[in-house]
Amino acid sequence: MPPSPAIAIVPATKADAEAIVDLLTPNVAKQIVLPRTADDIRAHIGNFHVARWHGHPGLAGCVALRDFGDGLHEIRSLVVAPEHGGQGLGSLLVKTAVELAVARHAKRVFTLTVRPNLFLHLGFTQVPVTDFPQKVWSDCANCPKRQHCDEIALALDLA
Ligand SMILES: CC(C)(COP(=O)(O)OP(=O)(O)OC[C@H]1O[C@@H](n2cnc3c(N)ncnc32)[C@H](O)[C@@H]1OP(=O)(O)O)[C@@H](O)C(=O)NCCC(=O)NCCS
Repeated sequence: MPPSPAIAIVPATKADAEAIVDLLTPNVAKQIVLPRTADDIRAHIGNFHVARWHGHPGLAGCVALRDFGDGLHEIRSLVVAPEHGGQGLGSLLVKTAVELAVARHAKRVFTLTVRPNLFLHLGFTQVPVTDFPQKVWSDCANCPKRQHCDEIALALDLA
């Protein structure tokens, strides 16, 4: 079932920061996504897209891109609200982030995830996490799962 036509994926604005935190928080508690503060989100708002549900408060989903330099971008902070799950919205958010990466002349996008299937359907392939030492240095060292990491690294090479 496709997402409701009442849902639109659009660039986030600073006014979305608290609602993005609300989407992330339950998944931070489950150690599925990394925590982001509203201030951090506002400071990087140009990297976020959100799924707005016309006529409803709150957001249906969000995704962010992070530029590691040398054409390498990470897809992160991907969340779909449970009531909107299984309708293709997560895949659309990933596609939107990939389009943003292309617009930013990325050579490669990657993600670390516990939900690899939707990325595999979009052409990502599994790669060793050691392909991304920048990510390991910046995030994995402080991650509560570093001793028992269950995340899979996936990458998509862009022409
Ligand atoms: C992961 C998450 C973003 C998925 O959102 P969603 O809107 O349900 O995603 P989709 O509807 O696009 O995909 C749902 C399933 O359909 C599958 N699917 C997508 N396209 C498909 C296709 N063409 N053919 C068959 N299956 C397909 C996906 O692989 C996915 O499978 P999975 O349940 O095994 O993972 C959402 O469940 C969520 O927010 N989870 C908590 C946070 C999280 O895990 N974030 C990801 C960390 S990077």
